[in-house]
Amino acid sequence: MAVLNVNIDHVATVRQARRTDEPDPVWAAALCELAGANGITVHLRQDRRHINDRDVRLLKETVACKLNLEMCMAEPIVKIAEQLRPEQITLVPEKREELTTEGGLDCARYKRRLAQVVKRMHKKGIFVSTFITPDPEQILASGETGCDAIELHTGPYANAKTPGAVKRRLAELETGKELGLENKLVVHAGHGLTYRNIGPVASISDLCEFNIGHSIVSRAVLVGMEEATAEMISLIEKFQEK
Ligand code: PXP
Repeated sequence: MAVLNVNIDHVATVRQARRTDEPDPVWAAALCELAGANGITVHLRQDRRHINDRDVRLLKETVACKLNLEMCMAEPIVKIAEQLRPEQITLVPEKREELTTEGGLDCARYKRRLAQVVKRMHKKGIFVSTFITPDPEQILASGETGCDAIELHTGPYANAKTPGAVKRRLAELETGKELGLENKLVVHAGHGLTYRNIGPVASISDLCEFNIGHSIVSRAVLVGMEEATAEMISLIEKFQEK
């Protein structure tokens, strides 16, 4: 059964719009957890544009479900992860000018660095996932470097404009999942998922975890964090039962 990690970065984005102390992502995490989220995801970016060091420190202390730290492989961030010891990290590429994470991590290109980071994280007991496109080269590189999981990038599916394109993107996710499982990787999915497009992805069997942020935080502004989280969980469960 796939479960939901709520990415609360954009709660911090609202706070940073005024560089004040509200809304507090730590409060938001507690509400997500009360509504049944399996995990809380935050991306500690190098430019600290939303989530900051204080947030990850307090979240590590207060999140009772899983804390999934999204991060790039830059050395200062890797050192923070080693000290923080979240249950899970998800390695992502990071560009300063991007609005959000754009492509997947190029695990094949950065194989040596990735293998080093995986080893260091495993020493601290941290589960490692890589955020990748459902591309065989990237899946195999994740497996070969000792990663525990992959998060398949659902952005291209979310952005697909025609029924044919949607079908092709779903088929890629399905094939990528199969190859991941064959390579003993746990398979997650995320990016661009919404209340409207979650159905076909939630229907893919054996996906273990969804990371969803923008859509849930957007709905939470109007209906509250607990209701927004609970609605997404019940949608995921509904489509999984089909
Ligand atoms: N997964 C990864 C690896 C991401 O970088 C993000 C965005 O921070 C998400 C999932 C969540 O994407 P969205 O905010 O579009 O739901």
